[in-house]
Amino acid sequence: MGLDKCEQCYEHQALNRNVFNYVKWKHRAEKSRQYLIMATIFMVASLSGVLLFVLLISGVIRVPQTDNSTSKVSIIKEEFGITREGVKIDRYTLRSIANASIEIQVLTLGCTITSIKVPDDKGQVDDIILGFDDLIGYERTDNPYLGAVLGRVANRINKGTFKLNNQIYHLPINDGDNHLNGGHSGWNKAVWNATVVEDQLTFSYISDDGDENFPGEIHANVTFRLTKEDELIIRFTAEIREKMSPINMAIQPFFNLAGEGSDSIYNHEVTIFADYYLPTKLDLLPTEIYTDQPAIHFYTANSLDIKHGKSGHDYGKHSGFSMVPQNYPDAINHDTFPDSVLYPGSTYIHTSWYKFTTAD
Ligand SMILES: *[C@@H]1O[C@H](CO)[C@@H](O)[C@H](O)[C@H]1NC(C)=O
Ligand SMILES: *[C@@H]1O[C@H](CO)[C@@H](O)[C@H](O)[C@H]1NC(C)=O
Ligand SMILES: *[C@@H]1O[C@H](CO)[C@@H](O)[C@H](O)[C@H]1NC(C)=O
Repeated sequence: MGLDKCEQCYEHQALNRNVFNYVKWKHRAEKSRQYLIMATIFMVASLSGVLLFVLLISGVIRVPQTDNSTSKVSIIKEEFGITREGVKIDRYTLRSIANASIEIQVLTLGCTITSIKVPDDKGQVDDIILGFDDLIGYERTDNPYLGAVLGRVANRINKGTFKLNNQIYHLPINDGDNHLNGGHSGWNKAVWNATVVEDQLTFSYISDDGDENFPGEIHANVTFRLTKEDELIIRFTAEIREKMSPINMAIQPFFNLAGEGSDSIYNHEVTIFADYYLPTKLDLLPTEIYTDQPAIHFYTANSLDIKHGKSGHDYGKHSGFSMVPQNYPDAINHDTFPDSVLYPGSTYIHTSWYKFTTAD
C-alpha cells in the first residue's frame, strides 16, 4: 500500500499464520532504499525449537543464507555520555569491512539503535534512524522509546493486570489505564553489559524478581550481528529463575528511508505478508480474535511529536515508521493468543533479520 493517504493508517498488528513474518518497505522518490524485515518469534524455545526444526526439515522456512566467516565486521566502542544517575553509557559502532556500505550504532542504554547508515541507489549515504545527538536526548521524558529495546513485555497489558499461577499481579499503569512496554522503568531504561565475541555484540541484563512488579528473575540477552550481505540480525534470548513471568522482547527503531529529518514517509511503500491483522480499540488493545501465531506491530508514527532530534530536526506526525516483531498485545490476558509465559528451564528466543538494499 502507498502511504500518501496516511490519515487512515493506524496502529495495527499484522499477524501471520506461518512462523515467518516478512515485511518490505521501499522509499520510491528519487532517492531509493529498500528495507526488508523477516522475523521469527518463539515464545518458548523448548516447544518452538522443535517446531522450528520440523519446519526447517519440511522446508517451510528458508532461513536467510549468511556467511558465517568472522572478522568481516569491525566493532568499535566509545563513551557516549553519563546518565543523570552517573552511569557511563557506551556506544558501539558495527561496520561491515568487506562491504563498507552499512554502519550501525547501538548504546548500552536500553540497547538503543541510534543510527543506521546505508547508501541509496546513487551511493549517497544517509542515516535512516530517528533519534537524538546525545544522551540527554535519549533520557528526555518525551522520548517515545526511539530505537530502544522493549521489555519485559512489549506493548500493552490491559489495566496492567494479569493472573498467573493463581496469583493476580498489578503492574505500573503508564499509558492511559494500561501498562505499556515494561512500565515506568522498562528495559529501555536499563544499562546493559556489553560483550564482543568476534563479529557479535551481546548486551546482557538481569531483571530482578519484582522488577516493575513482574515475578521472577530474568536473565536477558540481545545480540546484534551485521553480515557482509548487509543484513542486521538481532536475537533476543531470556531465561527465568524459579517463578514464571510473561515476556515479549522487541526493539523499536523508527525509520525514514529518505533519511531521518526528511519531511515524511509519504513516498514510502509497504508490503506486509500477513494472513490477518488484529483490530484494536481506541486504547490500542485488541478486540478478541483467534489465531495462534506471532505478529508485527506496524506504526506510522501518528502521534510522534519530537522537537530537536538529531541535528535539530523536528520529528512530527508521519516523519518515520516502526515495524516491531513481537507477540500479540495483551497476550497474557487472552487464552487464545500465543503463549507469552516464560517458564523456568525454558529459553525465550526471538530473531529478526533486517536487510537493506537499494530499489530497482
Ligand atoms: C556488497 O553489497 C552489495 C549490495 O548489497 C551486494 O550486492 C554485494 O554482493 C556485496 N559485496 C560483497 C563483497 O559482499
Ligand atoms: C554486569 O556487570 C556487572 C559489573 O561487572 C555485574 O555485577 C553484573 O552481574 C553484570 N550483569 C550481567 C547481566 O551480566
Ligand atoms: C547470555 O549470554 C551469555 C554470554 O554472553 C551466556 O553465558 C548466557 O547463557 C546467555 N543467556 C541467555 C539467556 O541467552
